[in-house]
Amino acid sequence: MSSTPLPPRSPAETDFPIDRAEAEHVTRREFAKFLCLLSGGMAVGSGWVAVKDKIFPPFTFEGERFVCNVEDVVFGATHPFTIQGSRTPFILIRLNDGSFRAYEQKCTHLACAVYYSPDKNKIECPCHHGYFDANDGKVLAGPPPRPLPHLEVSVRDGKVFVREPERKERT
Ligand code: FES
Repeated sequence: MSSTPLPPRSPAETDFPIDRAEAEHVTRREFAKFLCLLSGGMAVGSGWVAVKDKIFPPFTFEGERFVCNVEDVVFGATHPFTIQGSRTPFILIRLNDGSFRAYEQKCTHLACAVYYSPDKNKIECPCHHGYFDANDGKVLAGPPPRPLPHLEVSVRDGKVFVREPERKERT
């Protein structure tokens, strides 16, 4: 069996020779150390995800918040907004039937920004082709594990307001 010839040695390698085969050889012990570090890192990461919501509970707010005037959002359009005191991005969607919905603009898979597609009446995540129903935020396709968190929307005197849903979790 013929082996591929090694490339010529550089001047530095000639002056300070190394045994390439030995230098590139990974021992079982080194490989086992790498696996231990990798699985330890994954365990720490999973633990952090599990306790993060306990240490930093999700932002909630009391009462209603004004978002915009009805005429500011035409049919099939969206209006991005945030709630004072939070940096979570939301989108207000005016569906083609004229009704409003408000969702967090972060995909429940890996938090990419989602956008509304009025032609399909779906909310799409471009990162891994996740799709949500624009009527209720439920997952239609793709990897997102949960529906989009939403806020309740009410319209009074030509103004759009949002509030936390009845349940504490925005699902
Ligand atoms: S981040 Fe949205 S589908 Fe992956």
